[in-house]
Amino acid sequence: MTEGLSMQQESLMDFDADVAALDDSSRALARGAPKRSAILMCAPDYFGVDYIINPWMENQVGQATLPRAQAQWENLRRNLAAYSDIAFVPPTPGLPDMVFTANAGLAIGDKAVVSRFQARERRPEERPYCDWFEAQGFAIAAWPENVPFEGAGDALIDPTRDIVWCGHGWRSGEMAPRHLEKIFSKRTIALKLVDPRFYHLDTCFCPLSGGRVMYYPAAFDIASQEAIRAIVPAEKRIDVDEKDALSFACNAVEIGGRIFLNACSDELRARLTDAGFTPVVTPLSEFMKAGGAAKCLTLQLPGAAGKVTPRG
Ligand code: ARG
Repeated sequence: MTEGLSMQQESLMDFDADVAALDDSSRALARGAPKRSAILMCAPDYFGVDYIINPWMENQVGQATLPRAQAQWENLRRNLAAYSDIAFVPPTPGLPDMVFTANAGLAIGDKAVVSRFQARERRPEERPYCDWFEAQGFAIAAWPENVPFEGAGDALIDPTRDIVWCGHGWRSGEMAPRHLEKIFSKRTIALKLVDPRFYHLDTCFCPLSGGRVMYYPAAFDIASQEAIRAIVPAEKRIDVDEKDALSFACNAVEIGGRIFLNACSDELRARLTDAGFTPVVTPLSEFMKAGGAAKCLTLQLPGAAGKVTPRG
């Protein structure tokens, strides 16, 4: 490390150097994006497939290899830490899905909603997630007991439109978007998920910078497909085919033009590159056995960089 510089200053310098090395369109994307974001992750100490609550977990109970999962998670963490502050919620024994912090809740600025899991097996995660948000100084908004909501897995902030895209149909309830709208004073767009393999919105839909959206249309009902097309013009839509969708290409994390994802076909890579993005593949096969990949393993904390306790 350069003498006299904190680790954070130094990685900011790295980031600037990286931005300088980008081509013109990516640089424009990076310029519009906040310099530093904050992301919440949870180490996979107790990760495993212990029960079945989505189709990906079928026949996978006991099949995830912990050392491989740890190495894959660490690789993702290292990639993201170059561009973002990472905060960690302590893992809890007996909660194998707690690695999927996208489902902790939804946080915008200093306000947070803690998930109300539809999946009974994951309800015990609510307490440790809530404790973490509280300890970091987030104001926790009240949420109705009878409305399931699985956090940022089903609520995606569109960085350019100031809206929240919300998924419902499998895990989060139809009423969730209305409550989110009241709590965060942001317009929500409710999208109905119809394919059980894409049971959270973030498994098939990814708002990107520059107003672009990467998504798998067949995961949505017809009305929702129309709603997406009405809001996102054709030149901003990156629709992926079933093969890319099944390798969770849409379950991606974008930071300043870089897109971190489990896998990417040559065709999708070319389309993302043409649109000015840089796909970065970080394989996450062990987490796929539980039905999650890059985006599920992270919770974006917009407006919280420097506020949460980063230990990245
Ligand atoms: N096994 C977890 C579940 O079914 C995976 C969660 C993936 N998270 C996500 N945001 N899609 O709840």
